[in-house]
Amino acid sequence: MKIAVIGSGGREHALAKRLLQDNGVNHIDIIPGNAGMELDSNLRTHDCNIKNQDALLSLCSKLSPDLIIFGPEQPLVDGTGEFLDKNGFNVLGASKDAAQLEGSKIFSKKFMFRNDIPTAEFEVYESYDEALAGLNKWKITEEGIVIKADELAAGKGVVVTWNEDEARKTLSDFFLNPDCPVNTKKVLFEKVLKGKELSAFALMDGETFITLGYACDYKRLLDGDKGPNTGGMGCFSPKLWPDKETRKCIDERVFRPIVEGMKKEGTPFKGILFAGLMLDEAVNVIEFNIRFGDPEAQTLLPLIEGNLSRVFDHAAKGSLLNLNETLTLSEKCSVHVVVASGGYPAMDGSPMNLENEIKIEESSSGTIYYAGVKQKDQKLVNTGGRVLGITCLGDSIETARDSAYKKLQSVHFEGMTYRNDIASGSDGR
Ligand code: AMP
Ligand code: GLY
Repeated sequence: MKIAVIGSGGREHALAKRLLQDNGVNHIDIIPGNAGMELDSNLRTHDCNIKNQDALLSLCSKLSPDLIIFGPEQPLVDGTGEFLDKNGFNVLGASKDAAQLEGSKIFSKKFMFRNDIPTAEFEVYESYDEALAGLNKWKITEEGIVIKADELAAGKGVVVTWNEDEARKTLSDFFLNPDCPVNTKKVLFEKVLKGKELSAFALMDGETFITLGYACDYKRLLDGDKGPNTGGMGCFSPKLWPDKETRKCIDERVFRPIVEGMKKEGTPFKGILFAGLMLDEAVNVIEFNIRFGDPEAQTLLPLIEGNLSRVFDHAAKGSLLNLNETLTLSEKCSVHVVVASGGYPAMDGSPMNLENEIKIEESSSGTIYYAGVKQKDQKLVNTGGRVLGITCLGDSIETARDSAYKKLQSVHFEGMTYRNDIASGSDGR
């Protein structure tokens, strides 16, 4: 099977490496990919601006893949997956309308309420004045408030606060401040949910779903969950949590109503569904994403056993029900540690420490997935925030974690930044 993966980060590297393990897959084309991926002889990267639909179509026509898998959400929200689908390609990824589950937080919340999917109560405001007046209805200092911009904002469009001044400042930034990276015409306010966060993943073909697994990521930059929010500094896949009963509840109260509700409403969902959940005694949905998480993919994919490419192919064709094989989740635990550039996440636009040579010594087992790298003067150098990540498996979280941090000792570049407490339990997870 000829497979093309769209995207350029660690998530796409993990997808490609995992699919290469399947019988019948000899190489993977990654569009555009990155220079670190080229270290794998069976991965071929192709320079292409994926925002240019015609350029992408022309490249895909040349490569003629049997299956195209989208890594990131933006091209799906832009309708690029649907465009390739309409041009005769077999695409695993949401249609433009179905992509609204991630692309519009208001669409997503309203969908959840219509389909009885558990989530926090919310209100929508369509102007700054309305929203400012709306704050008076919320007991911010006692119960807190979550303010969300109704748009894709790479994690910057959500503020959770118990401070009334911060709530007002957030609104003026989101609606009125041209220098704020988030500019929105609508916001929603939500009740603060309490509990532990979990990312849960399912593969959907428009009719039915297969649960893929679970992971916990670390969004803050610094040890002890301190510092600014990032794209994710590490992750682990727990073995015993959530328990069987909770897993069943996630299937029945979240994944099933999604696949059935989206079909009923005329926007069947095909692709990877990522449910961001808050678990206490109850399961509540924080948000949906229409893709694998990054770095959740790097953590979870190495644990998935079975012919994943064949299963993805069936999902893309809408024929999971005809599939006579299944996927299983390994008994092992998985830990992933991200290594970022010095200065990441540079929220205020300050420069990061870039273009340093990355040296990797021969070392113990484990897998390196590349993200923000390029080739310069025959050397691999860092070009962006998250540079690479290391995944190790083990019989326990402790052994997987020890292996990942041991392997990390073999990675060297100036300014490299990482957390020391991924999967350590010291943060109460
Ligand atoms: P989102 O972009 O909706 O995933 O929100 C980003 C982060 O904000 C989540 O990962 C949570 O940590 C936090 N968050 C969002 N909504 C809520 C909520 N209703 N209650 C508590 N935390 C939330
Ligand atoms: N790790 C969170 C995300 O991919 O959105």
